[in-house]
Amino acid sequence: MRTQVAIVGAGPSGLLLGQLLHKSGVDAVIVERQSADYVLSRIRAGVLEQVTIDLLDEAGVGARMHREGLVHDGFELLYGGQRHRVDLRALTGGKAVMVYGQTELTRDLMDARRDLALPTVYEAHNVSVHGFDGTQPRVRYDKDGHSHEIECDFIAGCDGFHGVCRASVPRGALDEYEKVYPFGWLGLLADTPPVSHELIYLNTPRGFALCSMRSRARSRYYLQVPLTDRVEEWTDEAFWQELRLRLDQPGRDKLVTGPSIEKSIAPLRSFVTEPMRFGRLFLAGDAAHIVPPTGAKGLNLAATDVKYLSGALIEHYRERSDAGIDAYSARCLARVWKAERFSWWLTSLMHRFPEDSGIVAKFQLAELDYLARSPAGARTIAENYVGLPLDFNDGAA
Ligand code: APR
Ligand code: PHB
Repeated sequence: MRTQVAIVGAGPSGLLLGQLLHKSGVDAVIVERQSADYVLSRIRAGVLEQVTIDLLDEAGVGARMHREGLVHDGFELLYGGQRHRVDLRALTGGKAVMVYGQTELTRDLMDARRDLALPTVYEAHNVSVHGFDGTQPRVRYDKDGHSHEIECDFIAGCDGFHGVCRASVPRGALDEYEKVYPFGWLGLLADTPPVSHELIYLNTPRGFALCSMRSRARSRYYLQVPLTDRVEEWTDEAFWQELRLRLDQPGRDKLVTGPSIEKSIAPLRSFVTEPMRFGRLFLAGDAAHIVPPTGAKGLNLAATDVKYLSGALIEHYRERSDAGIDAYSARCLARVWKAERFSWWLTSLMHRFPEDSGIVAKFQLAELDYLARSPAGARTIAENYVGLPLDFNDGAA
C-alpha cells in the first residue's frame, strides 16, 4: 500500500490530522493498535479552547459539539472554604471555553472518517516505523495473520505517550524532560446533575478535588489520592463521602450522588520531547508531550500540534515549500512549554504534596487569594485557561 502520510494512532490527534489532510486533498492512512470501541472507552478531559473549537469546525466535525457542548464563561476556585469565580469572559475580552467530552469528539471524528470511507486499520499488531531518516519511510504492521507495509512520504506519530514512534527515534536524538507528581487523580463519572453549572477547582486540607461535567445530566468528579491507592479499594460511597468532606456547605447541599459509570486513577506527569521531528517523522499530541490534567490543556495542545502539522504538510504538497515542515517543532514547542508551565503551576498551587510542611499550604492560600482578588492575577489565570493566542510567540526573539 502507498499513501502520502501514514498516521500512527487513532486518538484525537491522528483522527483530526487525517480529517484536515483529507479536506486539502492529501492522502493518509491511519494505523491503530486498538479497536475503535476500545479507543472510545477511554475517559479523558473535555474542556476545549476556542482554537480547538475553530479547528474542529475547519475539519467539518463541529456540528454536534455546537449542539451539545456547554459554553462556560467562567469557573470557580474554592480555597480556605470560600469560592471565588474567575470570570473568563470579562477577564479575556470575551473568550470562553466549551465543555465537550473527548470521547464525544473522538466519536465525531471517527464517524466523519467512516462516512468518507477513509482508510483506518484498527487492531494493527506489532506496528513499526522505518526509513524516516531517509526519503522512503514505511510503516509495517501485522493484521489477521498477515504482515503489511505502507510506503509513504511522511509518518505522523500520533500514538500517545506509550507509542512506538518516539521510541523508534535513535537514542540521543531527542531530549526528554519529565516530572512525575507524587499523587494521582481518582475520577468518577456518574449520570447525576453536576453540583454546579460551572467547574469548581478545590484546594482543601484533604487535598485537591475537581467538580466537572460532561453534560447537564452527567457529572465528572476527581479527588487527589495517594499513588499507592488502588481503584478497587474505592467504593462509590467512599468516593462521595470524601468529596463531601472536601466540598463547602452549599456544595454538600447540592451534591447528587449515584452509581459510577466509570472510575479510574490516573497518574500526573509533565513531559516534553525536543525536537518534535526527526527526519520525515513528526510527533504530535501525547506522543510528544504530557501535561497534568489540572487546567485541561492536553487535548488543546494536541489540536494545535495538528493544526501546525497539517498546515506544514499541505504547504509541502501544494506549494512545494518545506518552510512549515522546518518550523513545525519550534512552533509547537513555543506553545507547548507555555501550557506545560501553566499546568505545572496550577497543579502545584492546588494539590497537597506529601513532602511539604504546613507553610506551603499557607503560601498556596495566599497566592490563590492574590489571584482571585487582583485583576492582574485573575487575568493571568484566565488568559492561560482559555488558551494563549496562536500568535503569542510571533516576533519573539
Ligand atoms: N501502534 C498503533 N497505535 C498505537 C500504538 C502503536 N504502537 N501505540 C499507541 N497507539 C494508539 C493508542 O491506542 C491511541 O489510540 O495511539 C493512540 C494515541 O491516542 P491518545 O493517547 O489519545 O493521544 P492523542 O491522540 O495525542 O490525544 C491527546 O489524549 O491523553 C489525552 O490529554 C491528552 O487529551 C489529550 C489527548
Ligand atoms: C474533566 O472534565 O475531565 C476535566 C475538566 C477540567 C480539568 C481536568 C479534567 O482541568
